[in-house]
Amino acid sequence: MKMKKAQNRWQSALQNNYGTPSLALSHGKGSYVWDVEGKKYLDMLGGIATTVVGQAHPKVVAAVSKQMEQLSHVSNFYIHEPGLSLAEKLISFTGEKSARVFFCNSGAEANEAALKLSRLTDRTRIISTRSAFHGRTIGALSLTGQSAKQRPFRPLLKDVVFAEYGDIASMKRLISRKVAMVILEPIQGESGVVVPPAGYLKAVRELCDKYGVLLCIDAVQTGMGRTGSWFGYEYSGITPDIITLAKGLGGGLPLGAMIAVTSKAPAFKAGEHGSTFGGNPVSCASGLAAIEVIEKGSLLKKVVERGEFIKREVAELDGVTLVRGEGLLLGIVLDEAIAASVVAAAKEEGLLLNAPDKNVIRIAPALTLTQAEAKVFIKKFSASLLRAKSEARA
Ligand SMILES: Cc1ncc(COP(=O)(O)O)c(C=O)c1O
Repeated sequence: MKMKKAQNRWQSALQNNYGTPSLALSHGKGSYVWDVEGKKYLDMLGGIATTVVGQAHPKVVAAVSKQMEQLSHVSNFYIHEPGLSLAEKLISFTGEKSARVFFCNSGAEANEAALKLSRLTDRTRIISTRSAFHGRTIGALSLTGQSAKQRPFRPLLKDVVFAEYGDIASMKRLISRKVAMVILEPIQGESGVVVPPAGYLKAVRELCDKYGVLLCIDAVQTGMGRTGSWFGYEYSGITPDIITLAKGLGGGLPLGAMIAVTSKAPAFKAGEHGSTFGGNPVSCASGLAAIEVIEKGSLLKKVVERGEFIKREVAELDGVTLVRGEGLLLGIVLDEAIAASVVAAAKEEGLLLNAPDKNVIRIAPALTLTQAEAKVFIKKFSASLLRAKSEARA
């Protein structure tokens, strides 16, 4: 009953852009969340790849509480220690001392910043990829290669073209000296965890170098350890000119960043860009605490092991044709278009999942997911799949 009441209040108070949520949650701990009626769920979506160290991690709670007591928000008129330390940490992850960070609040804003930075070249054309997701603001939506999401909001930015993702010949056809920036996800997350072929990022980097084009890696979803490295592109051996981050960066609080990595990327001059809340001390303290948990717990290595284990086990299940992705960003491809029913059945089983496509289930849990929790997931997922399959037959 509490659930129904929460949904009724939601419908009377909020825009319907998400559709009425099927659950109202009250609290969480680690990889688990509880709904308002007291039911417990293993959360394999993790706030959409965001709560990298789970709910209510004591180190994050302590850092956020301390920062809140000390200095909450000051604006970017002033320097503060958490912002400095987090920027320095991110620079050290890029391996490029000359990298420079701009903080904002979300993934869309990080990509807007990259877009604006690219305008400081004397070119305007952007190459994005089909099915890409880069955010919902007008600039970021212009880069999002999904016409259903773009259609109601046209006209969008001019001079954005789309290459087939993973297809270097398609990129070759579009790239020229008129192009300012290529923007790419190392793995396309929102469109169903799509992994490009080996060598793709390297080949794109080479094309960008040939034509003097900036390469922006949108690591909003793949970043902060999710795929077993800090940004998700490192396996390819490339260095991007720009990296955009959000989601896991704030350890569960809103925080985004645009990092101009190489000297090829232009730099904003004073007054050219800004954000009131961007990089506020509390979000930065939360992000730093999350990074410390990831580093001290050797989670980058564990994420890979956990991901491999889940991949192996899930691939054995009847009805699963393929498990793709890296680390703890996995797309489970089903042999039928029943992903929505699997998500609904999983809810009954006490498991939170997401269906980015009719036949794909995505998981992006906390990076702190234990081996025991991974086993609980496999058991509950297998039961949910069986249940959805038998419903489809009924
Ligand atoms: C790759 C990528 N870029 C950008 C975004 C947009 O981030 P936000 O929702 O924080 O604006 C997302 C969100 O899912 C994403 O996955």
